Amino acid sequence: MDKQDQYLIGIDLGTSAVKLLLVDGSGRILQTVTKEYPLSFPQSGWSEQRPEDWWNAVRTGIAQLTEQVDRSRIRGISCGGQMHGLVVLDVQDRVIRPAILWNDARTSEETEWLNTAVGKARLSELTANIAFAGFTAPKLLWMKKHEPELFSRIRKIMLPKDYINYQLTGVHATDCSDASGMLLFDVKNRTWSQDMLRICSVAENQMPHIFESYEVIGTLKPEVAEELQLRSDVIVTAGAGDNAAAAVGTGVVGQGGCNISLGTSGTIFISSEYFSVDPGNALHAFAHADGGYHLMGCMLSAASCNKWFCDEILNTKDYAAEQKDIHLEDLGRNRVFFLPYLMGERSPINDTDARACFIGMSMDTERSELLQAVLEGVAFAIRDSFEVAKGLGITPDHSMICGGGAKSALWRVILANVLNIRLDIPQTEEGPGYGAAMLAMVGCGIYPDVRSCADALVRVTDKVEPVPELAARYEERYQKYRLIYPALKDIFPRLQEGEVK
Ligand code: XUL
Repeated sequence: MDKQDQYLIGIDLGTSAVKLLLVDGSGRILQTVTKEYPLSFPQSGWSEQRPEDWWNAVRTGIAQLTEQVDRSRIRGISCGGQMHGLVVLDVQDRVIRPAILWNDARTSEETEWLNTAVGKARLSELTANIAFAGFTAPKLLWMKKHEPELFSRIRKIMLPKDYINYQLTGVHATDCSDASGMLLFDVKNRTWSQDMLRICSVAENQMPHIFESYEVIGTLKPEVAEELQLRSDVIVTAGAGDNAAAAVGTGVVGQGGCNISLGTSGTIFISSEYFSVDPGNALHAFAHADGGYHLMGCMLSAASCNKWFCDEILNTKDYAAEQKDIHLEDLGRNRVFFLPYLMGERSPINDTDARACFIGMSMDTERSELLQAVLEGVAFAIRDSFEVAKGLGITPDHSMICGGGAKSALWRVILANVLNIRLDIPQTEEGPGYGAAMLAMVGCGIYPDVRSCADALVRVTDKVEPVPELAARYEERYQKYRLIYPALKDIFPRLQEGEVK
């Protein structure tokens, strides 16, 4: 069968919604469907979702996505998913409690215990990473302490997209890129760390089987195939964490590629054929979906800062219209700064107590300057992780960019000049969903490996070059921005004293 007659479904299981793409084997996007689901913050700093809501959105989303096409052409499905979330199933594979998500900060005590009692050096030796509040292992320790009865019922532990794969195939599987963010995985050797499992009181048979992202974990369960009117030999590949999937979708595979994602979180992702660790552990050292590795900085609130400011504060959903009052000549001249720590921050400061703030307003400050400060604050925070990479001798002169925030031409100009590198825009900003569809293509044998699939499908359609004069102005603003967090660092925990945690 010709490539364009074979269809794949790529799923991006995000935090605010799931986005499903129907793509043909030549890379053409035929259809997209987005389904939202609730996100709950039951206590300050907590962040949860119901896995059943994800699955419902995926099931109904696939039905809608494939309504207009010949369903017998669908060959494979793959999923890129929000990372680190703890999904726990009982002996009958029922969900025990809502998933505790990647941006949940309840585990500061457990994180602290892991980093001090087990020790950062030992954690890094075992897993290539230290503990961050959003990672999965501290969540297990939290459950063991605060919900011992529920903890004792756990028979399977998995990550968000693994739950979708389980519902599709009945197989308990995960992939190396997503497993890397659990702090239970020996990233270098791509296997569970027996020591970490012991430290977290977990047995290996409670963990899913490990696959490479492009490997087939199984085919659709007969009842799912029947419900979705798909062939029962449709394959499902293991898929990847959303950032690794996004990197595949933007062609960032192999040695030395760079991808920036402006989604709910903001990430800078540097691909490598070789395993390496950031000695300061500010950047995560994870496995990549192409069989290699990557270093990644992750800020917890990126496009979500813009969403919060527009939706909740300015009371508008028209983000593009709101940006119209920010002119190119205004860039690099804003006297207002914004720290984007709405959910605390992960990379590189690892501070669950940090909070967002505006600083520098005066009587003549206008609405558009506050919005500009939000867009700039996110770019400065990405630069913080970029600086760590530069300190390791990694100096990319260009990067791919994807995610909802990358749709804004203004934001792309700000980011290119704050980082002082060229940004390449791919033909689609659907990073994780597109990358997931590519992993399904490899699983179906349409392409022999992830590299050749990326070479065949990913094209750069636009570029944003930094302008020396503007980059210099932003350099000066960035140096000022860098003074703000250290000055407030000790105040943040005191602001939260007395709050229910
Ligand atoms: C990566 C991370 C986030 C989530 C968002 O470490 O926590 O990018 O994967 O979906």
